[in-house]
Amino acid sequence: MAVSTQIAEDYRKLKDELIYHAHRYYVLDAPEISDADYDKRYQHLLSMEQSYPELVSDDSPSQRVGAEPLAEFTSVEHRLPMLSLDNAFTEEDIVAFDKRIRERINHEVDIQFSCEPKYDGIAVSLIYQQGLLVRGATRGDGKRGEDITQNVKAVPSVPLRLQGKLLPDTVEIRGEIYMPRRGFEDYNKRALARDEKPLINPRNAAAGSLRQLDAKITASRPLAMCAYSIGYIDGGELPRHHSEALKLIQQWGFLVSDYAAVAVGARACNDYYDRLSNVRATLPFDIDGVVFKVDEFAKQARLGSVAKAPRWAIARKFPAQEEITVLKGVEFQVGRTGTITPVARLAPVFVGGVTVSNATLHNREEIDRLDVRIGDSVVIRRAGDVIPQIAAVVQSKRPANAEPIHFPSACPVCQSPVLFVEDQAAIRCSAGLSCPAQMKESIKHFVSRNAMDIEGLGDRLVELFVDLGFIKTIADIYLLKKAEIAELEGLGNKSAQNLIDAIEKSKLSTLERFLYSLGIREVGQATSLNLARHFADFNLIRSADVEALQEVPDVGPVVAEHIQRFFSSEKNNAVVDALLAHGVTWPIPEQPSQEATPLADRVCVLTGTLEQLSRTEAKERLQSLGAKVVGSVSKKTNLVIAGPGAGSKLDKANELNIEIIDEAQFMTMLGRYD
Ligand code: IVH
Repeated sequence: MAVSTQIAEDYRKLKDELIYHAHRYYVLDAPEISDADYDKRYQHLLSMEQSYPELVSDDSPSQRVGAEPLAEFTSVEHRLPMLSLDNAFTEEDIVAFDKRIRERINHEVDIQFSCEPKYDGIAVSLIYQQGLLVRGATRGDGKRGEDITQNVKAVPSVPLRLQGKLLPDTVEIRGEIYMPRRGFEDYNKRALARDEKPLINPRNAAAGSLRQLDAKITASRPLAMCAYSIGYIDGGELPRHHSEALKLIQQWGFLVSDYAAVAVGARACNDYYDRLSNVRATLPFDIDGVVFKVDEFAKQARLGSVAKAPRWAIARKFPAQEEITVLKGVEFQVGRTGTITPVARLAPVFVGGVTVSNATLHNREEIDRLDVRIGDSVVIRRAGDVIPQIAAVVQSKRPANAEPIHFPSACPVCQSPVLFVEDQAAIRCSAGLSCPAQMKESIKHFVSRNAMDIEGLGDRLVELFVDLGFIKTIADIYLLKKAEIAELEGLGNKSAQNLIDAIEKSKLSTLERFLYSLGIREVGQATSLNLARHFADFNLIRSADVEALQEVPDVGPVVAEHIQRFFSSEKNNAVVDALLAHGVTWPIPEQPSQEATPLADRVCVLTGTLEQLSRTEAKERLQSLGAKVVGSVSKKTNLVIAGPGAGSKLDKANELNIEIIDEAQFMTMLGRYD
């Protein structure tokens, strides 16, 4: 299709608008439109680009993602070496640094310094030609780094094109890519919920994210970049001072630290260090010190460099986040699925700005690795906002009466026997639903949307009800009284009634939801559905032996064992009986006949957003027609249902020539089977 000037103009406008709003959001932290509004405009841009591929511009937000994975990174040379910084640790070190400089250039009066936070991330070099980002590279050994252009493009605060009119022919911008604490914590929460490995600390996380050959993975990580200097500039003017260069970089669209300041003389530099130490814990990102740079470029040039570091700059590092303290004892905590974790109780110690009195010991393997005993002096390390760790034991300080750590044979909370798992590295409480420590989490799971779906019974209320003794097992939810709820602070009659109504409504459920809501280990939604279809009758599931259970699709010996063990616990059976006695019920699941399952054996993938159905509803509808719904596209996939915003899964489906339908076609298809 030929593109009219009008369309080209509309496209350019829309693209510029999106760049403007992304800059407001990611760089200035001052959005002017909602996320949903941004997404809508972005979808519009994508559809224009699909209809008129010749319009796609290099700085379109769509160009941040979608690059093909690389086979390997190529090595690139830095025109000017990327130096590192000398370290200072005390006020005196800074006084000496300032003195050295003044002597070297015969300067009597105080020197002006640019002071900046020292970001704890990964150094990068970005090259812009005629304003356009053409190369991103890591520091490497300072002389050569790796070409990570695709990955830096996936970082939203990296401008794909510099803003402004008078742009240099070529300019190299240097800065630090890091993972903000919030993004790091959110990422880890999600990873833990999915039983995936958490990231160790924000710095490692940033490094790992930039080392990905597939830029889509980089794009999925919450990264940001702060620019801290101009490497070189061709066909453009460098201002006289570094602090002015920072302002220029900021005008070009980069994120530059709000905390950058100028200070005159060593004393003012040390004052700056004190100020930053005080706000350090409240910053949204990790810093490991501050950097002082001689502000005037002419003076920098006269000072030059030695070996790997310039004479004109220094980093004053914060004290190491490591301290030694004594391990007073070990307690055992019971988590959501009953895993019992050893927690070290420590003589309180101040590390990296906070007082630490607990640290996780993970599991038996970790305890063996450290060879730690109660009474030992231990090295406590805090990295970023991560839970404090015991890094090592000071063996030379071990007292004669140091005691080995014994694992309990009964749950410390409910006294039920413990089970040993994974070659005995981890232990688990065998009591399931009736263990009070697991109770709060099981209740949260029971009421959640995909389980019994009790609207209004959020985490806070669950915890309150348990603390008040209103709920002792999940079955007690059905005994809650309106009057007792209405008396609680912030609730009142109306909310109490709504909650009671929601609880009542949840009684009519489905067998698969009910099974899922019990929180049996490794019995997720898909397994619950398979169980419900296969047995149709709850009592048959309850009394099934492991052989019978393994006849269910996708149920292997481990899952069968979990199910069988769950239903052989007297306490669990009592809870289940109570639930049934309170009126929890469901219609008999329809036995899938060929007719009722027109999509039997079809493997479907849902991607992007759907407007008329939630993901869960769409999945349930497909499953009820016999389809298997999976999370990723492979050769085995038969059908992909793609809503707006579909990304890599859609690409993969296209690549593999798999049938793709949109939401409208999907609705029509469902309609056919109603
Ligand atoms: S200036 C020659 N400024 O610290 C100047 N570096 O040990 C060197 N860093 O590899 C860079 N924040 O990755 C500079 N505001 C800042 C910085 C900073 C963090 C890192 C940088 C460098 C390392 C030097």
